Amino acid sequence: MLNEQMLATAHNNFATAEPSADYAMEVHDIAKTFPVRNMLGRRTGGVSAVDHVSFKLPRQQTLGIVGESGCGKSTLARLVMRLIEPDQGQVLFRDEDLLQLGKNGVKDMRRHIQMVFQNPYSSLNPQLSVLDNIAFSLWANGGGKAEARSEAHQYLEAVGLPRTFADRLPGSLSGGQRQRIAIARALILKPEVVIADEAVSALDKSVQAQVLNLFQDLKSALNLSMIFISHDLHVVEYMSDEILVMYLGRVVERGPAHRVFANPLHPYTQALLASAPSVDMEAPPKPETLLKGDLPSPLNPPSGCRFRTRCPLATERCALETPVLRPFGQGQEAACLLLKEEEAASIPPSLINHS
Ligand SMILES: Nc1ncnc2c1ncn2[C@@H]1O[C@H](COP(=O)(O)OP(=O)(O)O)[C@@H](O)[C@H]1O
Ligand code: SF4
Ligand SMILES: [Mg+2]
Repeated sequence: MLNEQMLATAHNNFATAEPSADYAMEVHDIAKTFPVRNMLGRRTGGVSAVDHVSFKLPRQQTLGIVGESGCGKSTLARLVMRLIEPDQGQVLFRDEDLLQLGKNGVKDMRRHIQMVFQNPYSSLNPQLSVLDNIAFSLWANGGGKAEARSEAHQYLEAVGLPRTFADRLPGSLSGGQRQRIAIARALILKPEVVIADEAVSALDKSVQAQVLNLFQDLKSALNLSMIFISHDLHVVEYMSDEILVMYLGRVVERGPAHRVFANPLHPYTQALLASAPSVDMEAPPKPETLLKGDLPSPLNPPSGCRFRTRCPLATERCALETPVLRPFGQGQEAACLLLKEEEAASIPPSLINHS
């Protein structure tokens, strides 16, 4: 289905930066608190949406970011793209700190880092044909129309749609087909990094699987590095090489995907995994590990460990001290005060003694 060679050649001809390091992007200590104001415009508080988050995106790999709705995933992506201004931090990309760039620098950077959102319909122009929706970003960035359209045909094919779709309007397409157009439109700019934010969440399960497979195919054909954001653990597990688990604006666990899923260390990750609807209907989750209650308000997050109000293992200490990420071997890190290193490294999660 994919004309991989042609597409990869078009892609690589465009890319100017040779892979120079192990990481496509590094984010250091980024934070954002949205101010809350009263009727008079006076600041009365703040929503701590992203609280000192750091991560590295390994080149040509997929970093999955997972956590419940409201835990700061989209804000983190928007900070990285500089669609909103962070309070602090660094986003290192192509040897520059994106947060220090001027307007033109940011514009240039955005063509190398493309986003795919949950609802493609809102970002597609309903008046433009499918082909012109794909070609648009290329000619908006200075390309000739004929050339852009000819390239758009390649990308239409690459995302698995027949050429006969070229003249159709987005309104006549299914959700999955529209998402394929959104992907083609992101890729035609030959990005190095693609950030997919809940990109399959609005699709039916069967269509989800097709679009996930498309992402996988395109990632390897085009040597992309990806940040794949979802509240759905199974989706993130399927897609990711590395995992970042977020809770109320903070990273609580990270590591290689196979390690985190086989041996989740943080009580939140364990509860999230136990609470995720099983693909295996024969194996119901254990009730004692299920995630209970709602995410607390980020307007007034709990002191110390932000998970303590829902953590079955919380002690008084958890209200007083803020846990930091600590290494537990084989690249896995978790931020829990009570987790003991030697136990975490060797014992299956269900047997870990946290006290
Ligand atoms: N522009 C904004 N102003 C105020 N609060 C915001 C804004 N954007 C997001 N938030 C809040 O920040 C928190 C994190 O939101 P978000 O990043 O969208 O979470 P997620 O993508 O994980 O569902 C939420 O409490 C949300 O209400
Ligand atoms: S620090 Fe305390 S509250 Fe937080 S996850 Fe660990 S045991 Fe639970
Ligand atoms: Mg979101």
